[in-house]
Amino acid sequence: MAESRTIGVFGAGWVGLVTGGCFAELGHRVIVRDVMPERIEALRAGELPFHEPDLPEVLERNRERITYTLDAGDLVGADAIFVCVQTPPTYSGDADLSFVWSALDDLPASDERQILVMKSTVPVGTGDKVRAALEGRGLSNVGYVSNPEFLAEGRAVRDFLNPDRIVVGAFAEEDGAAVEALYGGIEAPVVRTDVASAEMIKLAANAFLMTRISFINEIANVCEAVGADVVEVAKGIGLDHRLGPHFLRAGIGYGGSCFPKDSLALKQLASNSGYHFQLLAAVIEVNELQKRRVIQKLQKHLGKLRGKKIALLGLAFKAGTDDMREAPSLVLASRLLAEGAEVRAWDPVARPGKLIKGAVLHATVLEAVRDADAAVIVTEWDELRGLASKDVRDAMARPLIIDGRNLLDPAAARAAGFAYEGIGRPSSPFEGLPQTAEPEAKVSN
Ligand code: UGA
Repeated sequence: MAESRTIGVFGAGWVGLVTGGCFAELGHRVIVRDVMPERIEALRAGELPFHEPDLPEVLERNRERITYTLDAGDLVGADAIFVCVQTPPTYSGDADLSFVWSALDDLPASDERQILVMKSTVPVGTGDKVRAALEGRGLSNVGYVSNPEFLAEGRAVRDFLNPDRIVVGAFAEEDGAAVEALYGGIEAPVVRTDVASAEMIKLAANAFLMTRISFINEIANVCEAVGADVVEVAKGIGLDHRLGPHFLRAGIGYGGSCFPKDSLALKQLASNSGYHFQLLAAVIEVNELQKRRVIQKLQKHLGKLRGKKIALLGLAFKAGTDDMREAPSLVLASRLLAEGAEVRAWDPVARPGKLIKGAVLHATVLEAVRDADAAVIVTEWDELRGLASKDVRDAMARPLIIDGRNLLDPAAARAAGFAYEGIGRPSSPFEGLPQTAEPEAKVSN
């Protein structure tokens, strides 16, 4: 167990609350500060603004040790202050650090040595800039440490408490040691390094994971052309211990609040330094094209999509979260609407609000697929594993399933009377479907 310390957290978002909650779980006292009064009030009332498994329990269990505040002054005396604010991309593709700078402006003055710890994903070189800004403000008693998060949504608490590694990049040895000590009680290799390398580890790890996804998606596209099955291929590749089985699930591309943003930031960081990161540029492009391939699969079976009813099953960028940021569902819905299709949607937790204008959200899968010409599995929700059922087939106008996550067994789906298209798997014969007439063109006065 770690010696109990006081930890401040700037930002009551997803990273901030997971970080704060898990440090409290390790026995520390935690003060979480945010600038949004309604967020702080809700947290004090025990309400979480997003869906993250295990986090409500962790926050509740450690309620006595966690304080939520609007006042940055309450962080005076904290041994370490974790910066967990957003770093969204700017128009130029660089990361917007304005939330980091305002956290710095709000940093309470203290006579004691304090350590500012960067958890947010930031461009390499941010540590140097923050160090200079601290010096410029006469805050040389504030240390700086880069301690990137490697949390995946839907399993963030588990990732925090059972990490593959903890990365600590520091300017001063004593600050690195102090941050490492906060993780006492967690069994994991600790990578102690310089600040720039720590910043780069985070960006490079995400870029490599994305590279694997775009790689397997391209292999999937070739599999389709040559009659191989990417699920079998991924299994065969993944058993090579040098390659491993992870992040080899072919599908309709990656999304979320991290990968798309971080890939652009790294590409931009490289080009700002005069280097054209060709491989990363291709990874990003492959991902964009991958989302759109679903449209071609639909057209193959349905011809023109104008007037066709398409059910998008799953809206979140992956299962286990309500997050729709950069979700493939957004691109798909917009493309379908642009083709003139009627889009219905279902998701167990994600609520699109104004994100998808023109699509109708349904409460159940069965409602969403009623009279539909096709059902597209967009998110790998467990609820969709039984999609190839008699009820669904009877409800649909045409029994066509496009499985964007290779969630179903193709043979079983076909045996249940569906035309089935996965990603990178042998495709359904096109004549399996009853044809319907094109809708009449509307005559306007
Ligand atoms: C990702 C990383 O996994 C975390 O390690 C990292 O800390 C986090 O970004 C971050 O930078 O904060 P996350 O975005 O929550 O976490 O989600 P992942 O589970 O990594 O999935 C990302 C996307 O890749 C999803 O759209 C998922 O569907 C897709 N994916 C993943 C595939 O298409 N195929 C795969 O084999 C794996």
